[in-house]
Amino acid sequence: MNKLAAVGLLFALVACQQEPSQPKRSPRVVEPSALAATMREMTADMESLKAKAQAGTLTLADVESLRAAHEPIKTADPTKPEEIKESFPGFAEAYLSNLDALADALRQQGNREAQIEAFNTVIATCESCHQQHCPGPLDRIRGIKVEQ
Ligand code: HEC
Repeated sequence: MNKLAAVGLLFALVACQQEPSQPKRSPRVVEPSALAATMREMTADMESLKAKAQAGTLTLADVESLRAAHEPIKTADPTKPEEIKESFPGFAEAYLSNLDALADALRQQGNREAQIEAFNTVIATCESCHQQHCPGPLDRIRGIKVEQ
């Protein structure tokens, strides 16, 4: 099983909806869309970097190693294309460029505050897009932010 599939399995119950009032058990496991699978990987990656960001010990390699895996955010097919708004591509570009800005901050060996600020800016971009597109995971996304 590749890493993506493993991560997908782990988050199989996460989706766009806030907790449904009447939870229904699905009789079969539904394959996540390519975009949902990318999101699960992005979530796992950023959650795994939080502690290092908090300590100010992120490295350039940490960010470079996940950059390619997050790139499909621009092109991956969503579960419900009809719910994707015109603002989506702009948020996707902003997300990737804020990830690059985080890499730049690390390249310049910024201090802990600079690391935390750049890291939190990335997560704020997740939040902005989700406020418009997929509110379910917002609490979880906010939980990735580092307290200053
Ligand atoms: C450009 C807009 C955008 C950005 C930026 C974005 N998301 Fe998403 N996210 C979506 C959309 C749309 C979906 C629904 C995908 C689908 O169901 O196909 C989604 C789905 C998710 C899901 C649910 C996946 C599932 O299991 O169905 C999680 C969790 C998530 N995003 C977390 C994040 C995190 C964490 C970040 C930042 C590191 C982020 N998202 C950045 C738009 C975005």
